[in-house]
Amino acid sequence: MNTLLIRGGRPLYGELRCPGAKNSALPVLAASLLVPGETVIEGVPAIADVESSVRILRHLGAICTLRGNELSVDAGGEIAGAVPEELMREMRSSFIFLGALLSRTGRAEISAPGGCEIGQRPVDLHLYAIERLGAKITHEAGVIRCEAPSGLTGATLHLSFPSVGATENAMLAAVLAKGETNIENAAREPEISDLADFLNAMGADVRGAGGSSVRIRGVTRLRPTRHKIIPDRIAAATFLLAGAITGGSVRVTDLIPGHLGPVPELLERTGCRILTDETSVAVTAAKRPTSVGTVRTMPYPGFPTDIQAPFTAMLGLSKGTSVMIETIFESRYKYVAELTRFGAKIRTDARTAVIEGVDRYHPACAESPDLRGGAALVLAALAAAGESRVSGARLIDRGYEHIETTLGALGADIRRMD
Ligand code: UD1
Repeated sequence: MNTLLIRGGRPLYGELRCPGAKNSALPVLAASLLVPGETVIEGVPAIADVESSVRILRHLGAICTLRGNELSVDAGGEIAGAVPEELMREMRSSFIFLGALLSRTGRAEISAPGGCEIGQRPVDLHLYAIERLGAKITHEAGVIRCEAPSGLTGATLHLSFPSVGATENAMLAAVLAKGETNIENAAREPEISDLADFLNAMGADVRGAGGSSVRIRGVTRLRPTRHKIIPDRIAAATFLLAGAITGGSVRVTDLIPGHLGPVPELLERTGCRILTDETSVAVTAAKRPTSVGTVRTMPYPGFPTDIQAPFTAMLGLSKGTSVMIETIFESRYKYVAELTRFGAKIRTDARTAVIEGVDRYHPACAESPDLRGGAALVLAALAAAGESRVSGARLIDRGYEHIETTLGALGADIRRMD
């Protein structure tokens, strides 16, 4: 069931609830290992990356029970220190288990995240952080072994880039360390604040999350808690774009509008109408969207790299020429070749894409190269009048809950086939 059959050309209308954030759920699930007891996490999205995290948690010895979108993780028993390579490979963000395992067991044995999907994804900043906190690191045949048998010790960390994953790993490693840790040039994404809220609810002492300096005073133990994952700003933006690109009107509720950063304003600049209240954002499409000049992806609160591909799909139908500059990942334009199958006129050169808007997309068969690139292709197929096929839907399932059901509820004709 790896291909989406989409009969596009119909405007999407309606309202949908924003699911819990993938990028929050993954570190929070890893953090649940820190407590020798049962933690309950609400708003866990039903996506493949969560399933991979649950497989890792179970392998490590935690008892996981999923009821709808609520996951209970009982890490009261013995927790293993090693994640096997086949589980690490399922999902790049499995590297987030490093800090949690070190904190909980004093050791972590994991393989380097392999493959190349959106460019190199080095882990030097993660390793820098845990080494500064006192872990001894050895590399052997693709396995990274980290040990801190007498525990970790707080330190000041200067991240050379505000890496989301490295900030999270540093936080997970520091919460049970002796003394104080300061993370400078920390990532400021809302998911970092959500992780801090979860850790603090467990009795940790984390301050400043959401800003560039995060201070963590180590505590000796943490207690079980219940936590609700924040809404998924990336999924929400994708659904708003689905309304905008099809000429429809979509409202996403149960959202924290501020987390969308510059996305609503950029949509407005294309000519869409945006209505925002405290917990929802609604978009009504422009008759013919217009180009927006130059857009650069940046760390939060800048324009999110995860929305680069879906937004480019929309700009491909906008009057005039737009320029997208990808500053976060080195190779995040693989989907562009597939988008041109729909008639998009886009030239890429290294990190720049020049998008010359066309009047309409035509139906096509395209293959998802990665999660967000796949979402961009679905948007193009929704806009193209006629029958399109987007294969590689399993990559899309990594970050979107049952995308055919969600978009189907807005009036899309989309179904899954082998
Ligand atoms: C997280 C998100 C991902 C999002 C990205 C940027 C999760 C599960 N994933 O990924 O959806 O696209 O943030 O907002 O939260 N880097 C290094 N060395 C390191 C770590 C990172 O050079 O040790 C570089 C990366 O190659 C990349 C940049 O830093 O160029 C940003 O990466 P990072 O913020 O770490 O992204 P992730 O945490 O992997």
